Amino acid sequence: MKKINIAIDGPSAAGKSTVSKRVAAALGYVHLDTGAMYRSTACKALRCGIALDDEQAVCEMLKNTEIVLTPDGKVLLDGEDVTSAIREDAVSMAASNVSKHPQVRSDLVARQQKMAEDKGFVMDGRDIGTVVLKDAELKIYLTASVEARAQRRYDQNARAGLELQPLETIMKEIAERDYQDMHREVSPLRKADDAIEIDSSNMTIEEEVDQILKLAESRMEG
Ligand code: DC
Repeated sequence: MKKINIAIDGPSAAGKSTVSKRVAAALGYVHLDTGAMYRSTACKALRCGIALDDEQAVCEMLKNTEIVLTPDGKVLLDGEDVTSAIREDAVSMAASNVSKHPQVRSDLVARQQKMAEDKGFVMDGRDIGTVVLKDAELKIYLTASVEARAQRRYDQNARAGLELQPLETIMKEIAERDYQDMHREVSPLRKADDAIEIDSSNMTIEEEVDQILKLAESRMEG
């Protein structure tokens, strides 16, 4: 069977990372979570006191920034393990803010394309099927209702021992981030024309993974 690349896009908290991780493990592929790169950028800008809307300053900062996604799922920012720190709610909105800048996007997109030069990658984000891996053999647009996504984020935060916000607050934050990610000028979140949409509101993770693996197998044969 030939090796392929799989692009998984969709709104916040749709379960892209979890599903991508499992699909990659099942196929022996490498998972790349591109959201973690925007989050790391935002995290460093916040720590350095750089205004998130100052595109030039964020770009200058990125020139001296190393972001490593390790094979075992860790995120290293200039050598520091920030895997948990970048999941804080404050970083989520900040990541969406820095992701609006065209120059920030082109820097990170170039890094992502270099990371996935060969086949055998499962990459998740917002613009993977439309920009980063336009020639991916399988493109999935993974979505779910705002309510389902907020509940998942709440459960995820609880499991990770992060500070818990009320469900309504999380729903509001997700809706706000959806709007911002879908309406920005550069590479807004949208379903690629050749992507297959999966609404996971009423599906288990196992069902989502199974469906994607079946699709992947058919593309690997084809
Ligand atoms: O997938 P995530 O929630 O960890 O992503 C954090 C933010 O980064 C998200 O609000 C939008 C941005 N992002 C992006 O613009 N393009 C990507 N490929 C991945 C994430």
